[in-house]
Amino acid sequence: MLTRLVYHSENHLGAKGAIASGTKVAMIDDLNAILAASQRNNEKAGVTGALIFDTVWFIQILEGEREAVSAVLRRIMADERHDEVTVMDCRPAEARLFGNWWMGFAMLRGDDGALFARHGIGTRLDPRRMSGDQAVALAVDLAASGLGRKVAA
Ligand SMILES: Cc1cc2nc3c(=O)[nH]c(=O)nc-3n(C[C@H](O)[C@H](O)[C@H](O)COP(=O)(O)O)c2cc1C
Repeated sequence: MLTRLVYHSENHLGAKGAIASGTKVAMIDDLNAILAASQRNNEKAGVTGALIFDTVWFIQILEGEREAVSAVLRRIMADERHDEVTVMDCRPAEARLFGNWWMGFAMLRGDDGALFARHGIGTRLDPRRMSGDQAVALAVDLAASGLGRKVAA
């Protein structure tokens, strides 16, 4: 059964390598490793989705067969590059919303206020105050303007 799951978590990207290589560089290294693994594994598992993040939060949407989504989630939950994984929504889906992305990503910045306002998010991203539907709508909006890393053509 095609299923869409939405969760948020606390971003700890770069935490391990912060002293050695500078937080920002370590964050980018971590992010690239996550996206490379996602591309590789999600294609095999038939999982598509979006990863939205800022320096504090991740919001991720995973869509695919229920077993496949659950298997990816179990792996993600064990990852020390984030914690406090909190499921916002999980339900059967009629069709994929992110069929073009094994795992598209977008980084949100402080000056994305207009985008947040469009989605009733306020001035700062705080997924604890968002519904799963709001998170999906935000990701769909970002996807329309082009998430990173499309499914290879
Ligand atoms: C916020 C976040 C999102 C992630 N998303 C995915 C994902 O969609 N697919 C995936 O396979 N791994 C994802 N990962 C990475 C996994 O936790 C894990 O490191 C990876 O799947 C291991 O892959 P490998 O065994 O092929 O190296 C994510 C990690 C984090 C911190």
